[in-house]
Amino acid sequence: MNEIEQRITQLREELEQHNYNYYVLSAPTISDREFDEQMKALQELEAAHPEYADPASPTQRVGSDLTKEFKQVEHIYPMLSLSNTYSTEEVQDFYDRTSRALNEPFEIVAELKYDGTSISLIYEHGRLVRAVTRGDGTRGDEVTANIKTIRSIPLKLRGNDYPERFEIRGEVLLPWPEFDRINKEREEQEEPLFANPRNAASGTLKQQNPQIVASRKLDAYFYYLLGEDLPSEEHYTNLEKARAWGFKVPDVIRRCTTLDEVVAYINNWDVRRKELPVATDGIVLKVNSLRQQRNLGFTAKSPRWAIAYKFQAERAETRLNSVSFQVGRTGAVTPVANLEPVLLAGTIVKRASLHNADIIRKLDLHYGDPVYVEKGGEIIPKIVGVNLEARSFMLGDAVQFIHACPECNTPLVRPEGEAAHYCPNETGCPPQIKGRIEHFVTRRAMNINIGPETVDALYDAGLIRNAADLYILQMTDLLALDRWAEKSARNLLESLRQSRQVPFERVLFALGIRFVGETVAKKLALAFTSMERLQQATYEELIEVDEIGDRIARSVLAYFADEANLNIVRRLNEEGLQLSIAEDLLAGQSDKLKGLTIVISGTFTKHSRDEYKAMIDQHGGKNSGSVSGKTDYILAGENMGPAKLEKAAKLGVKILNEEDFLKMIEQ
Ligand code: IVH
Repeated sequence: MNEIEQRITQLREELEQHNYNYYVLSAPTISDREFDEQMKALQELEAAHPEYADPASPTQRVGSDLTKEFKQVEHIYPMLSLSNTYSTEEVQDFYDRTSRALNEPFEIVAELKYDGTSISLIYEHGRLVRAVTRGDGTRGDEVTANIKTIRSIPLKLRGNDYPERFEIRGEVLLPWPEFDRINKEREEQEEPLFANPRNAASGTLKQQNPQIVASRKLDAYFYYLLGEDLPSEEHYTNLEKARAWGFKVPDVIRRCTTLDEVVAYINNWDVRRKELPVATDGIVLKVNSLRQQRNLGFTAKSPRWAIAYKFQAERAETRLNSVSFQVGRTGAVTPVANLEPVLLAGTIVKRASLHNADIIRKLDLHYGDPVYVEKGGEIIPKIVGVNLEARSFMLGDAVQFIHACPECNTPLVRPEGEAAHYCPNETGCPPQIKGRIEHFVTRRAMNINIGPETVDALYDAGLIRNAADLYILQMTDLLALDRWAEKSARNLLESLRQSRQVPFERVLFALGIRFVGETVAKKLALAFTSMERLQQATYEELIEVDEIGDRIARSVLAYFADEANLNIVRRLNEEGLQLSIAEDLLAGQSDKLKGLTIVISGTFTKHSRDEYKAMIDQHGGKNSGSVSGKTDYILAGENMGPAKLEKAAKLGVKILNEEDFLKMIEQ
């Protein structure tokens, strides 16, 4: 091994140890900053020496920005589910059945049932080679790149007593604090919220872009080992081994020798699970001995040697008084049940979500019905059924979905294939108008110092009808509002004054044009440089821009085709907002590389890789991670990998060195 290879190996080992300390043991020994520095050093060395590339290197966890469709692969052992039980009587039945079938002493391993999305990992020679989702149990999606972003999953195992090849199964989870953070962010971005961490975890694993996966801090707990030459004939001991190899195996698993111990475990965790950082929905009981497991075997759907005990979702019965229909900022109409207040899981519940028209129909809801409400993993309690026996013989009217908007009386529409109804009156419906102003003032948009309540109050007082109205607010207007003192009024006016300096790309984002999020706004701002030119852009010119497709182009055109919107933009211009791109951003912009796809490879002396990336962007080119038929140039530094060189030669891709490239973009 030469010096460089040695250094790379050493950095990889150190970084993996720090990952393990931090993510598995929760006991870091170095600062984040030191970690980042070491990671950067390794990244640079690997970029310079692609011949030492290793898919198990800690740098591979960062997630490349390559996106791809998932490949479907067959499971080696089918991924079965467990049969569910809901009472201690059913658990006792399982225990007795097992006892009779085995006719000898046995142990039960009790574990928590984690409520995420299951994953199967294949390790060969101590390295992670494949990660597959459950899919239909027989075939699943290969999501290895996404799984590698989960820091608590070992890419290389510790020690050396692992089988040459084995499979380990576990649950990918999104811890509660991270779930809350993501939902808060989605709320700000007007994206639909995740109902529970399970949906969030499985949705995240199906993301095509591993960088997004890496940004959502998933975790994974493991509970099942499969293979031809496992270390032990006991499930419990195998899991202990897996823990020693670096997997996160929960230390709450217990070996039980009597039914009483099993029941005590269930009762204990039914309460204590509320302290855990991740969602659980029950207990799993497994026969410990693998020999006994083989004797018991499987039914078509599940093993006979294991069952799940599901915790009772907290449920209460109450009366449905009425249903209200709420209009959100996107115009979506949500039915909400108003209930006779009832105590559920420690809080008084008065309202429950009814989701959409189909769900109302399925429940066959009538006014006055006695209904069951449950609080499962969801944030908002939901109605799960009607107590038909207790239903009054004087049946109330059936609950009907409304046909017109409760706020503005416009007939509702239901787009094909969607479950939701919408109010199409975007510019005249109060909650939609308020929603747009609320978006305009958010931190990432205009950063104006007011919240939704203030927007409501200003709207109700008749002071604002659109974003431009904010800029004509006067001190006297504000002081006339309820509970407004001079200080808060002054703050708002000052914050409005400062917002006139917010750069064009954020003003464009703030307008709330459908599908124009932060990134798209930036692309449009750079491409057209001013609001005036953007307004005049044609469909063809719009879709010319990198990453702007049909959907966005149509939405932009529709926005500027509306006289009311043009009026708002005109007034914002008069108020002195930044409606063209700042000079310093523009200086140095060019389209010298327009339409060119460039791959960066190797190490450089004049600028860093990141600087070259920025230059390509600045001059209208596209930076891509891998050489393909679409590549126009490779910007090659020292030590470009031989594989890339060969591929480039085969595809006839031109190679530029630093000097060539800098000449190309010279002013
Ligand atoms: S064992 C053949 N153990 O529950 C048995 N599963 O319905 C394999 N789960 O798909 C599963 N925690 O996603 C097992 N401690 C645990 C579990 C667990 C959660 C999930 C898993 C599985 C489903 C079974």
